[in-house]
Amino acid sequence: MKQYLKINEWSIIEESFDPTTHEISESIFSIGNGFMGQRANFEEKYSGSSLQGSYMAGVYYPDKTRVGWWKNGYPEYFAKVLNSTNWIGIDVFINGIELDLAKCKVSDFVRELNMKEGTLSRRFKAELEDGKQIQVDALRFVSMARHEIGAIRYTITPLNFSGTIRLVPYLDGDVQNKDSNYDEKFWLEVEKAAAADVSYLTLKTKKLDFHVTSVMAFDVFKDGNKLDLNRSLQEREKFVSSEVAIEAAEGEQVTLYKYVANVTSRNHGLGQLVEVGKKLLIEAQEAGFDTLLREQVDTWAAKWRESDIIIEGDVSAQQAIRFNIFQLNQTYTGDDDRLNIGPKGFTGEKYGGSTYWDTEAYCLPFYLSTADSSIARNLLIYRYKHLEKAKENARNLGFTKGALYPMVTMNGEECHNEWEITFEEIHRNGAIAYAIYNYVNYTGDKSYLGQYGLEVLVEISRFWEERVNFSKDKGKYVMLGVTGPNEYENNVNNNWYTNRIAVWTLEYTQEVMSYLKEHENARYLELINKLELKDEEVAKWNDIIDNMYYPYDEELGVFLQQDGFLDKEIIPVKDLKPEDLPLNQNWSWDRILRSCFIKQADVLQGIYFLSDQFDLETKKRNFDFYEPLTVHESSLSPCLHNIIACELGYQEKAYEMYLRTARLDLDNYNNDTEDGLHITSMAGTWMSVVQGFGGLKVKDDALQLHPFVPSHWTSFSFKVMFRGARLNVNVTEDNITVTNETDTPAAIVIYDRSYTVSGLGEVQYARSSVTI
Ligand code: BGC
Repeated sequence: MKQYLKINEWSIIEESFDPTTHEISESIFSIGNGFMGQRANFEEKYSGSSLQGSYMAGVYYPDKTRVGWWKNGYPEYFAKVLNSTNWIGIDVFINGIELDLAKCKVSDFVRELNMKEGTLSRRFKAELEDGKQIQVDALRFVSMARHEIGAIRYTITPLNFSGTIRLVPYLDGDVQNKDSNYDEKFWLEVEKAAAADVSYLTLKTKKLDFHVTSVMAFDVFKDGNKLDLNRSLQEREKFVSSEVAIEAAEGEQVTLYKYVANVTSRNHGLGQLVEVGKKLLIEAQEAGFDTLLREQVDTWAAKWRESDIIIEGDVSAQQAIRFNIFQLNQTYTGDDDRLNIGPKGFTGEKYGGSTYWDTEAYCLPFYLSTADSSIARNLLIYRYKHLEKAKENARNLGFTKGALYPMVTMNGEECHNEWEITFEEIHRNGAIAYAIYNYVNYTGDKSYLGQYGLEVLVEISRFWEERVNFSKDKGKYVMLGVTGPNEYENNVNNNWYTNRIAVWTLEYTQEVMSYLKEHENARYLELINKLELKDEEVAKWNDIIDNMYYPYDEELGVFLQQDGFLDKEIIPVKDLKPEDLPLNQNWSWDRILRSCFIKQADVLQGIYFLSDQFDLETKKRNFDFYEPLTVHESSLSPCLHNIIACELGYQEKAYEMYLRTARLDLDNYNNDTEDGLHITSMAGTWMSVVQGFGGLKVKDDALQLHPFVPSHWTSFSFKVMFRGARLNVNVTEDNITVTNETDTPAAIVIYDRSYTVSGLGEVQYARSSVTI
């Protein structure tokens, strides 16, 4: 772990150029707008080590599966988010020598991700091999206001000479995924044209026929005056460029503005891509860089109005939480219900950019609280649309009914291929069912249940019904051969969490049925008919509910993670040698599987989801038993432990967990940030502040708060949207103030007191006047 970034409230700043951390920085300084995104690669050539990455949301490739030993049921392919046309490129030649930061002397280097305004900038001086020095100032963004537009301002100033600057902006589609299974390139060229005004390049994927057109135009200015220059054009396979040469005197600033539109066949007709791309591009170019930048700043200001968290007294924590919120907003905007949140977003290739249970279990609360409820609803509809595929998936695995959602997916089909996860990590179905409850409980939008929710719930319930079996020996239903959230155990019997979430699904499905029967009877009957749901099935569900087996240890008073957990040698993590950690990099898999060490919340995942069903003593016993055995080697782990620790009043433990989640990427905690950022766990960081330190829950149609200020902070405040109101919650040692920034009143509970915060009103809770 090397901390090399400057601590700042609103920016991530790197103050010198170090090739050894460059790929980490390429991840950290990534920019995106939900529609496209990219790693912080340089505009000019860089021959040092770099992971070039530019991605278009939803454009993926079914890369043929590669496994050591094929098992029936494996999917044929692993869907990958595609590395797409490099549209930022601008080659730079100074008196014929190419600018390449790997080959020149770099000084005064500053790279800044301005999170307030949504821009990435770079400033440096470079001395080339012939002693000529230049200053470079580059600023770029992908527009939040115009999703298909990106813009770059690139300024060069000769510092100790007068000479010729040649600039070659280009579009390069000859790119490859680093994680391609068979070193294959996935793109074919369709058409291209390099022209003096507007150049373009259209590529299509070898399979699935996704088309992406990138269109570029540029203007060059010298000391503020637009130049009319000859452009020399070049075309080669999957590549177009347009070159200009400028005579610049010492101290004169040469600025190139590059505008790009990226349009895809996901959003436009195949035959229209070039035309639409050109239209959008010309509009952007005519608006000009400054206008586009102003729009960017305004759009981000609106995002921050809805989602900012302010931490007083700890700038490092402030920077970290804003970084997490910023990256989440860059990854998913909710405008398109075919999209989802990949664990690495647009910042790397690992995990294929696909959808995991992370979305339902970890990301949903962030979007529920910081955006219009339609956005969280879209995340749910995404799974509704995949229901038929989830049914097919269950059939492929030999189930006669029900739906098993995939562990990893792009289009609803499973594309994960490790048997212990693909076939056994079935608790994901529970998270998808739970998300429906979570959404309806938070928003009060019960219309979702009849429109979409019940169908998903019934099919998941049917899956659980068939996945359990009755053990004569135990006289109970059991669930054999599963992997719980703790992936450091495979093929276990009766994972407590999976059994519990399965039964919870059966219960909740019936609760929803009763609601619909009473309140939307016609729709209820229509659905029962469509689903061909029989009384016997529901009777069977009730039998499972009444007779499910849950491993439990009477003496310890804890739920057992799975059958036989206590046969293991129970050693706390603190007794491990520091060099053993992380286990997944230092121990054989065999040793990990036999050990008691837990990758991430498992029993505690259930205690978090179903919090109301357990008293504090039960939570405490389970936390005290499991947390010391947990190595938190999934980035999703510390946040849940933080939330439960907060509830138990373990303030120091909660803060320790917070630090592990909040600066995970900024401090490269897991030593893997160069692969991309841990986007889905960033939502967990947000949960740590709002649900952990803020103690936020929604119960009985009211927003409940149970906050405390961590001793390292002086105060904090966060925004939450709740049923049409936007509330600002400010927590200090002495007071909790909830300010309503909208006209819509909201029901809240602070500790045990109920209030209505009127439209534009405020509620103050002084701690001194009450006992907490
Ligand atoms: C975790 C899973 C998670 C996946 C993607 C794994 O390391 O164990 O729970 O879904 O990463 O984030």
